[in-house]
Amino acid sequence: MSDLQAKDLHTGYGRVEIVSGVSISAALGQVTCIFGPNGSGKSTLLKAVAGAQPTWRGDVVYRDTSIRDQPTEERILGGIATMPQGGSVFADLSVDENLRIGGHTIRDRTQLRQRVAEIYDRFPALAKKRRARGSDLSGGQQMLVSVGQLLMTDPQFLLLDEPSAGLAPSVVKEVFQMLRELKEAGKGILMVEQNVRDALQIADQIYILVQGKLVYHAPRADIPDLKTLMKVYMQV
Ligand SMILES: Nc1ncnc2c1ncn2[C@@H]1O[C@H](COP(=O)(O)OP(=O)(O)OP(=O)(O)O)[C@@H](O)[C@H]1O
Ligand SMILES: [Mg+2]
Repeated sequence: MSDLQAKDLHTGYGRVEIVSGVSISAALGQVTCIFGPNGSGKSTLLKAVAGAQPTWRGDVVYRDTSIRDQPTEERILGGIATMPQGGSVFADLSVDENLRIGGHTIRDRTQLRQRVAEIYDRFPALAKKRRARGSDLSGGQQMLVSVGQLLMTDPQFLLLDEPSAGLAPSVVKEVFQMLRELKEAGKGILMVEQNVRDALQIADQIYILVQGKLVYHAPRADIPDLKTLMKVYMQV
């Protein structure tokens, strides 16, 4: 079953093609990981799926319908929320304000308040910090706010660009545990990661992107351990 797909997707910047004919599938209730070296086009691919980057050729399909020409806002309303690389926390705004920005597509004020309350229920550590500014939060707390911003619209799919970047190992474990819980709650997670070791713990599907092309795809079940995957990685 695949609920969100890129099909033979081409995109780039200016006249330079960065992603060349990539097809990936992500399903609800699963974590789909895209690995690859720096500069291989992972973020560019994720942006095209999110609608933040135009698809030059090929298609982006969500529940059997092309969303290739949908702007990001419409994709959010349709259930696809995205965290860009580096997160999406505004340093000068409070946690409360940051969460509300995540819910900017929600028109009903009562619903907006309810959603913020739900995020605090889910992440009690944030409830204590609701008036703290983004810049006063730890890296782990900022990641919680970033994910909280996505959850404001109650999305089906979360697109995450390197959720573990810059976090201490113990915090990475917590973040990945949170992602595991989201997948167990039925959300689909499509994420780019450099931290292959920890991401493997929660991944269901693995893709490797090198120089804008897919060089490997396997279900997690076909990969016995990190060593095997790293061997593949070294050969590509
Ligand atoms: N806005 C942009 N304008 C022009 N070129 C860009 C832009 N963003 C990225 N690139 C180029 O596209 C290529 C792929 O970048 P991208 O950020 O997609 O790679 P990545 O795999 O996410 O890398 P990293 O692991 O460092 O995050 C790189 O050569 C980069 O310099
Ligand atoms: Mg990137």
